[in-house]
Amino acid sequence: MYAQMVKSTGKGVQALEEMSREERAFQERIDRGEKIEPKEWMPDAYRKNLIRQIGQHAHSEIVGQLPEGNWITRAPTLERKANLLAKVQDEAGHGLYLYCAAETLGVSRDELFEMLHSGKMKYSSIFNYPTLTWADMGAVGWLVDGAAIMNQVPLQRTSYGPYARAMVRICKEESFHQRQGFQIMMVMANGSKDQKRMAQDALNRFWGPALMMFGPSDKDSVHSAQSMAWKIKMNSNDELRQKFVDETVPQAEYLDLKVPDENLKWNEETGHYDFSQPDWDEFYDVLKGNGPCNHERLEARKKAWDEGAWVREAMMAHAEKKAAKKQAAE
Ligand code: 3HC
Repeated sequence: MYAQMVKSTGKGVQALEEMSREERAFQERIDRGEKIEPKEWMPDAYRKNLIRQIGQHAHSEIVGQLPEGNWITRAPTLERKANLLAKVQDEAGHGLYLYCAAETLGVSRDELFEMLHSGKMKYSSIFNYPTLTWADMGAVGWLVDGAAIMNQVPLQRTSYGPYARAMVRICKEESFHQRQGFQIMMVMANGSKDQKRMAQDALNRFWGPALMMFGPSDKDSVHSAQSMAWKIKMNSNDELRQKFVDETVPQAEYLDLKVPDENLKWNEETGHYDFSQPDWDEFYDVLKGNGPCNHERLEARKKAWDEGAWVREAMMAHAEKKAAKKQAAE
């Protein structure tokens, strides 16, 4: 399988003949479907690539709380408020599982946060778009969590044990989020004319950015080939994007909403929808920090970090005091 991948993608994959004996044995373990555990030997590049992907994933969960947190105080009913609050808390939990998984690779949480705050590490582009109306809470749950689970369900089989195990619980919760988002869309789409218009407007604004969540097209993806060879990623960006479109279009039809793409068409021959690529110039611009909310999101995270300093210090002091007491008793 691995040899095939070298041939089919070529890009960025270490060739078998360039590998040391250890690297070759490592690759064979991956190919047999074995899980790699924290204390085991792994190539440096595998470790670095995992820290990059898990770190970016963890940051996405944490930054992803902000656009929805924006609506907690304005949710239309008490039940909606409680649901949204629970969902935003779930995202914080996902961030924590993922930071813990990254820490097993030898990076500290402080280092990860420093990389987020200094812009050295990314988080998902989708969270740099604003949430303007209540319908956006529906669209985010339906499309953003929908895209996230499309990508994350296969990651339950990823080669790194702690990452794969973290994904199991995350996926259960994300599918619940997707359903609660779709339910909001159903209510809006079947409500008054204004509500339906809001639902359509939310779909119009989030469709392109949701497609971008899967990353650049395969020909431009930097990491896919090596990440797939190492089973850090299980599918290519384009494969998952297509799967998302194929599953989401019938859902939009059920809602009687129109996907904002004039080229969207079922293709009998391929058994998939044909669709327009998102605006890749916009994607790269958002990655460079020029999206509508990049500045606001990063500032909010830095503020939370600074204002939480006293909590971290108090927790550390408590832990140190407890350890000293234990030592004295021994
Ligand atoms: N947003 C921001 N950066 C992105 C991106 C996106 N949507 N898509 C790609 N990139 C970045 C990559 O990180 C990489 O930059 P880097 O070298 O500085 O890290 C560059 O663009 C090139 O892209 P590649 O295709 O080579 O990158 P990957 O192979 O890492 O693929 C990915 C990108 C598909 C997002 C992959 O990293 C992945 O599967 N990550 C795990 C899942 C994840 O992070 N999901 C976040 C979704 S949001 C979420 O889960 C929150 C929930 O509450 C909804």
